[in-house]
Amino acid sequence: MTTNQSHWEKVYQTRNYDAVSWYAPHLSESLRLIGELCPRKDSAIVDIGGGESTFVDDLLAQGYTDLSVLDISCAAIDFTKKRLGANAGNVNWCVGDITEYDFKGKTFDLWHDRAVFHFLTDGAKRAAYTNLVKNSVKQGGHVVMATFGPEGPLKCSGLDVVRYDERKLHGEFGDKFKLMGSQTNQHATPSGATQQFLYCWCKVA
Ligand SMILES: C[S@@+](CC[C@H](N)C(=O)[O-])C[C@H]1O[C@@H](n2cnc3c(N)ncnc32)[C@H](O)[C@@H]1O
Repeated sequence: MTTNQSHWEKVYQTRNYDAVSWYAPHLSESLRLIGELCPRKDSAIVDIGGGESTFVDDLLAQGYTDLSVLDISCAAIDFTKKRLGANAGNVNWCVGDITEYDFKGKTFDLWHDRAVFHFLTDGAKRAAYTNLVKNSVKQGGHVVMATFGPEGPLKCSGLDVVRYDERKLHGEFGDKFKLMGSQTNQHATPSGATQQFLYCWCKVA
């Protein structure tokens, strides 16, 4: 097991789902964007680093039929599967490190990442990530990224993060991606702090 994988396994084995700083009962901003960008319920959607978030539950409840969730932590995936019960069988579950992952030819209409990319402090890992996005999102498909914003924290879960503004985040992706919009918002953590997030969404040309 890599250090990064053990870190996240330990987090999910020792912390309650609703006590981690990134917890939100629903990912409202993400859901709003998916509804706008991906109205077809048979759209192939992947949630990168889905953890124990209720994003997949909410998409299933809205009738989406082609959902994939990837996370480096087996514990997080197992927890989410258990919460979904029989509905878990309607999701494609993937355990692995996104910087090394192979979707084996599966492609997506929408790629969603909330609070994963900002952990990639190494340029080579960021390049591996963006290359995978380029190869995995269909032409005309969309990418929705949420990272800490320019005034966001410097660390999350004890790990260093990279903070982004729109220009810097879009710059990681390059010309194949047409920026459609961005906004910052404040996330209220369970302990009462606020964290600035940047949402950025683009279309694959
Ligand atoms: C801050 S949490 C965000 C969880 C979820 N997206 C949310 O918004 O509630 C980061 C998640 O990314 C996962 N993760 C971290 N590094 C990863 C990597 N290299 N590949 C895949 N998942 C990773 C962690 O296990 C964790 O579930």
